[in-house]
Amino acid sequence: MKPDRDAPVGVFDSGVGGLTVAREIMRNLPSEKIVYFGDTARVPYGNKSKENVIRYSRQIIHFLLEQQVKAIVIACNTASAFALDEVRNEFDIPILGVIEPGARVAAQETKNKKIGVIGTEGTIGSGIHAAFLKKLDPGITVISKACPLFVPLVEEGWLHDPVTLEVVSRYLQEFKEKEADTLILGCTHYPLIRSTIREFMGEGVRLVNPAYETALELASLLEREGLLSGEKKQEEFPYRFYVSDLADKFKAFANSILPYDVEMTKKIDIEKY
Ligand code: DGL
Repeated sequence: MKPDRDAPVGVFDSGVGGLTVAREIMRNLPSEKIVYFGDTARVPYGNKSKENVIRYSRQIIHFLLEQQVKAIVIACNTASAFALDEVRNEFDIPILGVIEPGARVAAQETKNKKIGVIGTEGTIGSGIHAAFLKKLDPGITVISKACPLFVPLVEEGWLHDPVTLEVVSRYLQEFKEKEADTLILGCTHYPLIRSTIREFMGEGVRLVNPAYETALELASLLEREGLLSGEKKQEEFPYRFYVSDLADKFKAFANSILPYDVEMTKKIDIEKY
């Protein structure tokens, strides 16, 4: 049976970071309902093995299917890098990751064909951006770097802080030296320090936020599959949030970045799935 077009979209991440993707879906597809899962008990994924990230992703997809979602967005770059290919073949539901939408736009927008990619150790170690970009255009040079300190800085709320600017300049100096004209923010948290990254890199470098590009690709995917929602019904909770730990902390962070007042956040036992 074809899923209901008024069913919600499932969005998941290792924790709060994927809210940057949920936020873009809310802004760009306001008729869509969302069920969000943040794996706050097992975050971070960025330094976990591929095997574990695949296992976590499978469990979360089982949970989201139980919520009767019509499509799933893997909002986490690390989970997209490690698990998307595996789970796409296993589940009979459209599944979208965040790597390809960001990389596609970077390939279109670079002028000098030097693209920088920043992300977690897992994402950068997987080499997935470089492989995909080279497939799009073998003439592209990819400069990649893991920036593991960015995630804790964002979670601490130091978005516009001299310490963050210092860390940004230490990590990103190399991209200036190698003259990258486009930089993919390949981790859910990085769009939140975009202005600090902009301050260091300057106006001449195109910063690609895969969260935005993913929301646009989700719209095309839903349209192609005949799954775009009509008008959003006046429901009490069009956006529902689930976590594997610390629901109140999640809710406070969500309320600080979403254009919507998060009321319902529920903790579930993800190991059951
Ligand atoms: N959500 C992760 C990502 O986009 C960052 C946080 C983590 O390491 O789990 O790669």
